[in-house]
Amino acid sequence: MSEENIQLIAKKIVESGKGILAADESTNTIKKRFDSINVDSNEETRSFYRDTLFSTPDISKYISGVILFEETFFQKNSSNESLKEKLENINCYPGIKIDQGLETINKDSIETYTKGIESLDDRLKPYSKNGAKFTKWRAVINIGKNMPSKACVEKNSSLLAEYALISQNNKLVPIVEPEVIMDGEHGIDECYDITVKTLTQVFSSLEEKNVDLKGMLLKPNMIVPGNQSSEKLDIKKIAKQTLKCLIKTVPKEVPGVVFLSGGLSSVDATTILNEINKLNSAPWNLSFSYGRALQEDALKAWAGKNENKNRVQDIFLHRAKMNSLACHGKWDASLENE
Ligand code: G3H
Repeated sequence: MSEENIQLIAKKIVESGKGILAADESTNTIKKRFDSINVDSNEETRSFYRDTLFSTPDISKYISGVILFEETFFQKNSSNESLKEKLENINCYPGIKIDQGLETINKDSIETYTKGIESLDDRLKPYSKNGAKFTKWRAVINIGKNMPSKACVEKNSSLLAEYALISQNNKLVPIVEPEVIMDGEHGIDECYDITVKTLTQVFSSLEEKNVDLKGMLLKPNMIVPGNQSSEKLDIKKIAKQTLKCLIKTVPKEVPGVVFLSGGLSSVDATTILNEINKLNSAPWNLSFSYGRALQEDALKAWAGKNENKNRVQDIFLHRAKMNSLACHGKWDASLENE
C-alpha cells in the first residue's frame, strides 16, 4: 500500500459506504465466542476463522479496514500466508487494537480505566513499521447508581486523548472509542445524557492535547435503552437521538463516525445505522466498526467445521453489504433474504 497521510487514510476508511470489521477480540474474548459454538480456541482455529473472513471474495467492496489483535497481525495461515498481507493485497487497511484492557479505578467500584498508556509509544513501533494504518483504544463508561463518576469520565477521556496523540505521532489514525455500555436498566434518555457528557469531555481532552481532528475517527455507541430496561428498541427514536447527540458533541472536522454494535443484534445494528443515514443531516460520514454484528451469523455458520468455509464467507459478505447499504440509507428489510 502506498504512503498516505493520516487525514487521507481516515477519510478513505469511511468513504463510499465502506466500514470496518472489528476482528480484534482478545484471546479471552475470542475464546468466549468460540465457546458459544463449542469450538476450541487455539492458534490454529483462530487463524482459520479469521483467514476465512479476510479471504471472502469481494469483501473489500464493503470493508475498508480490519482491526486486528496482536496475535493476528503477525499470524500466518496454514499455507504460510500472512493474514495482514492478505488484507493489504485487497486494499483493506490493517489496524491494531493497542489498549491493554481494563482495570478498576478503585477497589470499591466497577468503574474502569484503560491500561497501556505508559508503554504505548514503544508498543506502536513494530506495528507502524510493519504496515498498520490505524489503531484502536476502547474506554468503558458504565451507567448505574452513582455511575459514571466525574473522575471516571475525566480519566478515560484524558487517556483517550493521550493515546490519540501518541498514535498520530506514529503516523497512525487513532480510532477513539468511548463506549457507554448497554448493560443496565437505564432508559434511552439516560443513555443520551451520559453519552453527551462523555463525548463532550472526550473532545475537550482531544482539543486540549491538540489532536488533529481530521486525522482520527470516533467509535461511539448508539443511543439505546439498557439491555435490562423495560423500554423497547424504537429504531426511529434511537436514530434521532443518536444523531442529535453527535451533532451536539462532535466537531465537523472529524471525517467519520464508525459505530460499535455493543450487543445489538446484527439486523438491529444495520437497521439503526440505515435509519440514522436516512436522516441525512450529518457533517461526517456515518459508518460501522462492528465486531459481533458483522460476525455472529458467520461464526454460527462455521461451527468449527472447515468445510463450511464458503457458507461462512457468503454470510459475512451479505452482512457487510447490508451495512454498506445502510451507510447510504439504502438498506431495506426485504434485502435480508437475498
Ligand atoms: O471494541 C469493541 C469492538 O471493536 C466492537 O465490537 O461491535 O461487538 O461491540 P462490537
